[in-house]
Amino acid sequence: TESFKYGDGKGHGGELHQKPGSDKEVMTTAQGCPVSDDQNSLKGGKRGPTLMEDHVLREKLFHFDHERIPERVVHARGYGAHGYFETYDPIPELTCADMFQRKGEKTPLFARFSTVAGNKGSPDLARDVRGFAVKFYTQEGNWDLVGNNIPVFFIQDAMKFPDLIHSAKQEPDRGFPQAQTAHDNFWDFISLSPESIHMIMWAMSDRAIPRSLRFMEGFGVHTFKFVNASGEEKFVKFHWKPKQGMQSVVWNEALKINGADPDFHRRDLWDAINAGDYPEWELGVQVFDREFADNFEFDVLDSTKLIPEEQVPVQKIGKMVLDRVVDNFFAETEQVAFCTQNIVPGIDFTEDPLLQGRNFSYLDTQLKRLGGPNFTHIPVNAPKCPMRHFQQDGHMAMHNPKGRANYEPNSWPRGEDNPRACPEHGYKSTEEPVSGSKLRYRSETFADHYSQAIQFYQSQTSVEQQHMQNAFVFELSKVEHKPIRERVVSHLLNVDKQLAKGVAEGLGLPEMPAPAEAAMSPRTDLPVSDALSILKN
Ligand code: HEM
Repeated sequence: TESFKYGDGKGHGGELHQKPGSDKEVMTTAQGCPVSDDQNSLKGGKRGPTLMEDHVLREKLFHFDHERIPERVVHARGYGAHGYFETYDPIPELTCADMFQRKGEKTPLFARFSTVAGNKGSPDLARDVRGFAVKFYTQEGNWDLVGNNIPVFFIQDAMKFPDLIHSAKQEPDRGFPQAQTAHDNFWDFISLSPESIHMIMWAMSDRAIPRSLRFMEGFGVHTFKFVNASGEEKFVKFHWKPKQGMQSVVWNEALKINGADPDFHRRDLWDAINAGDYPEWELGVQVFDREFADNFEFDVLDSTKLIPEEQVPVQKIGKMVLDRVVDNFFAETEQVAFCTQNIVPGIDFTEDPLLQGRNFSYLDTQLKRLGGPNFTHIPVNAPKCPMRHFQQDGHMAMHNPKGRANYEPNSWPRGEDNPRACPEHGYKSTEEPVSGSKLRYRSETFADHYSQAIQFYQSQTSVEQQHMQNAFVFELSKVEHKPIRERVVSHLLNVDKQLAKGVAEGLGLPEMPAPAEAAMSPRTDLPVSDALSILKN
């Protein structure tokens, strides 16, 4: 038995493949039992039935049968890599978050980029929003910045998320289309949800077909809070700026690439990192106070709105470098569990009703997707700082509290295995006055659905505007139910008359519909913003 070598990670050591009988690196079952023949099942007689007793066959099939786990309910198609975040100048005046306190400090991280609507095997170049999720393994716990490559979102309240996603995924009766925006249900939902018009302008822009994952921006979308050691708070929006610049393909190229290589984006990231061409993004923050928020044209709790960089400049506070591909796609990219509620001292949530819902949803879905409550024991999800708590047991528990104490209060000596909560250094939610009656309500301050869509459209170059018009025509031409096409054009009339006319003509609409009713008159006086155009960047 001394010659058995297994578990040393060296693989087959160059032996002739499938040649049995070697005394080196002998294959074993998952229980460690050496295997004599991995290609023929145990039979009763040479042509006889397979025997139940064949523990090697049964284990092999059992494990294979259970290889799949549920794919993510959204963002199923994605690709990840390891890297680090390097802090520029410390920003203790803004936040006490540990990772921003020391110049040049490197914080390890894992990033995953994704499409939203397509299933796990869908093509990379779908016209879709891209997820941009980063897990920072800080010394005070994991901070997940779970963002997108578009700074606003389709809806304002988490209550609408299942409807949005149901409409965007394949239609339930026919099971297609699975990765494109081009279908009746999606456009039906959009045309009946005026709050989504701003985001749909972005989704029809070049941003939705990035050339590669390395050439896109990222945004935290919601307004968060920074808190410093004295408890002073500021509002903050997070931005990722690619040092490679921003690039997109045109739709024709996207279609060809999808056909020729549906893995184009993941291959590009893998190849770039393996070639030592590490992609980098700078993390920027827009920081503003309550006075700014109170005087801003829109509600900063409304995720369908952005704050123009001309109004609040983006301050770069560090950079992310992706320098290591995964060793094991499933263990790392598939099993990574991002969650907006993974937060650290120095950062806090706001009452954005979309963010509040997300804080519940990620943990909930991961309980099912990853098979129980212990997914923080999977290395890619485990913090790289000490963890001390009294949680125990459950499916796949790898570590339990050590020693005797597994409850509080207890009178056993405090120590490594018997921790206590700490009022001075523990996470504290910022104090936010809460008042009013319990009610289901959408604030009037969320009612302006067109003004920023207008601003976005006007900020695009004429080439980009033409691409958007083409995108609307292409996508809506796949919509079979004509009233849906008309409803979308009626919204576009509130954004730009020429655009609406171009789309209506492209679709061959017999007559122009009336503009959609607007809860608030759209503003046309908002400044053009260079930051909103790819070509001007
Ligand atoms: C993934 C829910 C809005 C970005 C997911 C997942 C759920 C979810 C359930 C799958 C997570 C998993 O299986 O691990 C929601 C809900 C939302 C919402 C309920 C609104 C109420 C957003 C917004 C953004 C976003 C606004 C961007 C700012 C992402 C990303 C992922 C994701 C990037 C993929 C994470 C990964 O790579 O594993 N979301 N989401 N989501 N969501 Fe959301």
